[in-house]
Amino acid sequence: MSSGNLVKDILKEITSKLAPHVERASREAQLLLMYHLEVDELWLITNQEADVKESDKLLKLAERRAKSEPLEYITGRVSFYSEEFFIAEGALIPRPETELLIDEVLKNIADKNANITIAEVGVGSGIISIMLAKFLPNANIIAVDISEVALGIAKKNIELFGVENRVALRLGSLLEPVDEQIDYLVSNPPYIAQSAELEPNLSYEPQNALFGGEIGDEIIKKLLDEVLSRKINFFTCEMGYDQKDKISAYLKDKSFAKLEFYKDYSGFDRGFTLRL
Ligand SMILES: C[S@@+](CC[C@H](N)C(=O)[O-])C[C@H]1O[C@@H](n2cnc3c(N)ncnc32)[C@H](O)[C@@H]1O
Repeated sequence: MSSGNLVKDILKEITSKLAPHVERASREAQLLLMYHLEVDELWLITNQEADVKESDKLLKLAERRAKSEPLEYITGRVSFYSEEFFIAEGALIPRPETELLIDEVLKNIADKNANITIAEVGVGSGIISIMLAKFLPNANIIAVDISEVALGIAKKNIELFGVENRVALRLGSLLEPVDEQIDYLVSNPPYIAQSAELEPNLSYEPQNALFGGEIGDEIIKKLLDEVLSRKINFFTCEMGYDQKDKISAYLKDKSFAKLEFYKDYSGFDRGFTLRL
């Protein structure tokens, strides 16, 4: 039962519902309430005594969150690289460390106005391809995914950001649906080992976005094979914190110009750029 319908009371009630299950219960209560009422931070601060309409619906959202459903799937919104994207079940929720993959790519492209063709394998919600399209005004991007649901979510975001003339979506595995000559391949592929035990909130995310095979690095290795056989000049890829040695070993006898690893915000190895 709700203790009252005022903003301040509902916030208190939701916070205590969420507290045993989520770290930032009070903040998440505010975010759920702002989403439910379609109001902003300023409104929330200045309207603590206002009535919350349809508070039962809001409490149902809080119950979903208390069962570990990610806040982003409940609200349909996610922030990435200071932009707001649409998100829904069926596409991975973008992670902050993937911003670093974008920085790596931009670092390697000296001429931001170059007319280049980029391919992304595993587009998910579209965040990487869309941000690259924004930063590289003359780049054409071919974005592949094996999930039709993910492609539907990416399509929505591509339209939201108005880059549909430069980001083409294709259904398929790896680079199968791409015949064009590619200058730069990017990917945040699934890279978790099949046997890994995951936190409860991850059970809501698409499993084919998380698991890369029995060992975890199988898809990364397939992408490396593609890069080498198609002679793609640059490849920037996110990876698991413990995959650096395996990737270095896989490339040991191969011919390429440079392999550089980068770290994430916590100092863990998180990805690499291979230059042929
Ligand atoms: C870790 S998610 C990355 C999503 C998004 N690019 C991001 O960074 O948030 C991996 C994506 O790869 C897709 N995927 C998995 N196996 C694939 C394959 N063999 N070929 C193409 N895409 C694949 C999944 O459907 C998922 O959307």
